[in-house]
Formats: sequence, structure tokens, C-alpha cells
Amino acid sequence: MTATFKAIYLTEQPGADAPHAEIRDVPVADMMPGDVTVAVSHSTINFKDGLAITGAAKIIRRWPMVAGIDFVGTVEESTNPGFKPGDLVLQNGYGLSEGHWGGLATKARVKGEWLVKLPQAISPVRSMAIGTAGYTAMLCVLGLEKQGVKPSQGEILVTGAAGGVGSVAIAILAKLGFDVVASTGRPEHADYLKSLGARTVIDRAELSAAGAPLGKERWAGVVDSVGSHTLANAIATSRYDGVVTACGLAQGADLPATVLPFILRGIKLIGIDSVMCPMDRRIEAWGRLATDLPFDRLDAATQIAPLSAAIPTAHEILKGKVKGRVVIDTHA
Ligand SMILES: NC(=O)c1ccc[n+]([C@@H]2O[C@H](COP(=O)([O-])OP(=O)(O)OC[C@H]3O[C@@H](n4cnc5c(N)ncnc54)[C@H](OP(=O)(O)O)[C@@H]3O)[C@@H](O)[C@H]2O)c1
Repeated sequence: MTATFKAIYLTEQPGADAPHAEIRDVPVADMMPGDVTVAVSHSTINFKDGLAITGAAKIIRRWPMVAGIDFVGTVEESTNPGFKPGDLVLQNGYGLSEGHWGGLATKARVKGEWLVKLPQAISPVRSMAIGTAGYTAMLCVLGLEKQGVKPSQGEILVTGAAGGVGSVAIAILAKLGFDVVASTGRPEHADYLKSLGARTVIDRAELSAAGAPLGKERWAGVVDSVGSHTLANAIATSRYDGVVTACGLAQGADLPATVLPFILRGIKLIGIDSVMCPMDRRIEAWGRLATDLPFDRLDAATQIAPLSAAIPTAHEILKGKVKGRVVIDTHA
């Protein structure tokens, strides 16, 4: 076993909000405890990685930290009976880059109970093109389905459409036969959003300012990764019995809404968490990604970049400048 591994290494800077972030050769002997050691091949950059690496939000709870809320790789060593050397595994969340060293690295040591075996139909690169963003998009779609939302019921709104959650949600929903309306602040990506399967593209300005407590009924379902006024307006313009899944805060963590859509139209607001999501739901989501995500569309939404691109991409994603998904090849 090599004595060091490469990682995006974050150290606390006393008195500063932002951590110091660099690529560092880290001694294997310093790794945190775990019963499975994984040779990581790929990771990715999600919005939350942007928050952690730049220090824009207090994601990290212990120092120093290895960044990265996702990884995929091959088991090197295991004392967990569920895993053996050679198994292809992935992890999303479960405290990676918060309380436990993360996946933007060439090696990770974690608890086997956090790992998912990579479905055969999904390659390692595609699993990270999906990443937390895409797996959360699938959790949102499952949230709509579990509330009985069907394609025949009408339009589904996807906010933050050109981002990671939004792009994958559009591709899945379109494949399942839903009529998808993509809300974006980047009209120059309208053709991209239509190529993913959106039937209609709207300007996010229609949703992002303070609105009325109730508006004209339009959406049978919503996948919202934006929060704030956008989420409030999506709720206020949902159809009777409509279902709104809320997973993000790209616009803000506030929810300036009233109870009127809930008590007059029976709207259901479903919260979506990927980080501590129980294992049976993760396995269900990854199983459905294997069958219901059109991989050609995922590939079109994916760029592959080296580990050296991780820190600059973390800054870019918070500015809303990343389109689709960025996979990090940790060995490049
Ligand atoms: N609950 C969970 O477990 C979970 C899991 C994954 C992600 N999330 C959250 O979901 C959100 C999206 O994550 P992501 O990885 O998809 O990020 P992303 O790739 O950066 O996508 C976010 C998108 O939101 C839109 N946006 C950005 N700033 C905005 C603003 N001020 N007002 C309105 N829209 C804005 C942009 O889309 P357009 O350019 O198309 O407008 C942007 O591409 C983040 O808040 C993230 O923390 C939560």
C-alpha cells in the first residue's frame, strides 16, 4: 500500500471564514477510522462542495478535512463482511466532508454501512456524473411518485434547471413521460435544457421575486433546488393536490410563504434529504437511476476534469456558472 494519497485538503484559518484549500499528499497513517478502505477513482463537485471548500457555509465540523461529499472506487481492504477487495462501491453524504474525510482524494476509509455497491448498469464515471446532485434528483422524483403524481396530471416544474439536481431531474422526468417545465436564469442554455427533455423553458425571474400567496394553478408537481421566493411561488402556483419536493437553497434558505396553498388546495410539501437518507431508500434510488436515467443525456450534461480543477470549480458552482455535472478524475 502506498504511504500517501492525494487529496483536496482543507485547513481552518483562524479569524477567516474561508479554509485554506490545496492538493496535498496526505499520509495514509493519518486517515480516519473505518472498516473499508477504497481506492477512489472519481469524485464530483456539488453545490455543497462549493460551500465547504470556499467556506461560504459552515459545512465542516472538524479540521483538517478532506473535501468531497461523493466518491466511487474499488475496495482495497475490508474487515466488513459485506465488502471484499475488488468490489466497486460509491458513497454519497453520510457526513463525508462534514465530520469524516471525503472523496476528493485518491483514497477513502469509511464505514461499510455507508457504502452502496455500484449497480452493474452504471459505470464509475457515470455514477459520479450522477453524484449527490443526481441521486437527490431521483429522491425528488420518488417523492413525487410516492404521492401519486402521474404524467397525465399536468406539468412538472424543475427549478435551478441548468444545475446538477435540475439537469438530472429533467432527464429522468422526461424519460418517465412527464411534461417538464425548466426554470432557469441562463436562457442561453435553453437548447441544452430541451435536449435533456424539457418541453418548455421559462425565465426564473417569473418565480424568484416576492409573489402573491396564491396564483394561477399550473404545476402537478415541482422539483425545487432553489428555495426562498422561488419555492414559495412554486407552492402558490401548484394545482389542487399538487406535490412540491424541496431539496435546495441556491436562492436562499428562507421560505416566505403562507399556509393558504396547503389549506385551500391541499398542496403537499415534501422535504428531501440525501445526506442521512436511510440505506434502503438509497438502494432504491440507485436502482431506479440504473433503469430510468437516460445515460446519453447524462453524458451530454457531464464534463470530466482533473483533481486540480476541484477548487476552482467549487468557486464557480456557487456563482451559478457550472452547467450540469462535473466529474473529477482524482488520478488526472
Ligand atoms: N437536500 C439535499 O440532500 C441536497 C442534495 C443535493 C443538493 N442539494 C441542494 O440543492 C441545490 C442545488 O444543488 P446542485 O448541486 O444542483 O447545485 P448547482 O449545480 O449549482 O445548481 C443550482 C442551480 O440553481 C440556480 N440558481 C443559482 N443561484 C440562484 C439564485 N440566486 N436564484 C435562483 N436560482 C439560482 C442555477 O440554475 P439556473 O442557472 O438554471 O437558473 C444553478 O445552476 C443546492 O442548494 C444544494 O445544496 C441538497
